[in-house]
Amino acid sequence: MLKIGIDKLGFYAPHLYLDMTKLAASRNVDPDKYTIGIGQDKMAVAPITQDAVTLAANAALEILDDRDKEAIDFVIFGTETGVDSSKSAGVYVHELLGLNPYARAIEVKQACYGATAGIQMAKGHIAMNPDSKVLVLGSDIARYGLNTSGEATQGAGAVALLISADPSIMTLEDQSVYFTSDIMDFWRPVYSDKAFADGKLSNEQYMAFFSKVWEQYKAKTGMELSDFAAICYHLPYTKMGYKALKTILGEGSEDVQERLSANYKMSTTYNRNVGNIYTGSLYLSLLSLMEQAEDLAAGSRIGMFSYGSGAVGEFFTGILQPNYQQHLHVDQHARLFASRIEVTVPEYEAIFEETLPTDGTTIELDIDHDPANICLAGVTDDKRQYVNKLN
Ligand code: COA
Repeated sequence: MLKIGIDKLGFYAPHLYLDMTKLAASRNVDPDKYTIGIGQDKMAVAPITQDAVTLAANAALEILDDRDKEAIDFVIFGTETGVDSSKSAGVYVHELLGLNPYARAIEVKQACYGATAGIQMAKGHIAMNPDSKVLVLGSDIARYGLNTSGEATQGAGAVALLISADPSIMTLEDQSVYFTSDIMDFWRPVYSDKAFADGKLSNEQYMAFFSKVWEQYKAKTGMELSDFAAICYHLPYTKMGYKALKTILGEGSEDVQERLSANYKMSTTYNRNVGNIYTGSLYLSLLSLMEQAEDLAAGSRIGMFSYGSGAVGEFFTGILQPNYQQHLHVDQHARLFASRIEVTVPEYEAIFEETLPTDGTTIELDIDHDPANICLAGVTDDKRQYVNKLN
């Protein structure tokens, strides 16, 4: 049986962040509401020189070598912050990374579920073409608006997953359960650059979808909670996944409950310091788990719950591969977090309000203040101008 799964996993977040306790003070909210009630400490803030394309390209840059660039014949870009209604963000990334031209490049959208759809598509592609590799990207900038109840759950960042046969990090098991239902819990009409959310409904539906796919998964596979070393969740904010985990913890012994709770904590460390990155959030959580947990053995089964408002949910699983730790970038991510620069609330508000021209005016952006290798350098004739500083 051909093993297919995650061979490499990259991550990038912009170099600016906002401290949630400072946001709380400015919004006259008890800081505990954000840090405990919602479970977020820092929110990544994207400067105007970073968009969904550049965040994803920077995440991919971290993991790809020349052999990968040659072998990748499919780029699947999951996002709900796309920069163009026609041209896929995948084509820009394909060029910025110098990938083999004999490749497909597309964009997929279903709120925070997009990257999961991409991974499942990639799996099918590798099954048919075992020598190829697929680059799946999940990249978003979460924007609800200043002074909104969703504001505390914003964020920005991207993940890049290299999907291949005989993967180094995790094989993806075949059985999964997915569910779709038309719900208006969160949406963003094409004329708005901010999401609309019915926060309470989205929380309820997240829980309802989790319950449906988990129960169905157990019925279909005969698996139970004790078969899992950890369960990673889509994390719009870190408290959300915990609420879902709590509903099933009682199905396990005390040991199982302890293990899953401890690993849940590890799986939220990065997200707690980045915020919601929409379609990449589940995979940032997986990365956090693998890089932060000290005794997560190879062979462990990890459950993954993906949820994209609107809504589609899926529960699927993976098995950690021998020596998977050697294929992670723990030090690089520690440096990424340590080198970030804090912005004040007024600075964050100014960055939030800054927009690109929509009337064809040319603009040149200052990319010298953005340490990222790949940046948006401006817009000319309604065309975004991207720069890879390494070229
Ligand atoms: N100390 C500790 N906890 C506190 C607190 C304090 N001083 N004040 C409030 N809290 C807790 C609340 O009890 C609540 O916990 P609970 O959810 O376990 O009941 C939590 O903090 C949030 O408070 P709430 O009043 O529900 O927040 P809100 O209505 O202002 O906003 C969201 C919360 C998630 C609805 C809002 O941020 C949102 O709309 N986000 C975008 C949509 C989203 O992320 N949906 C998730 C599913 S995809």
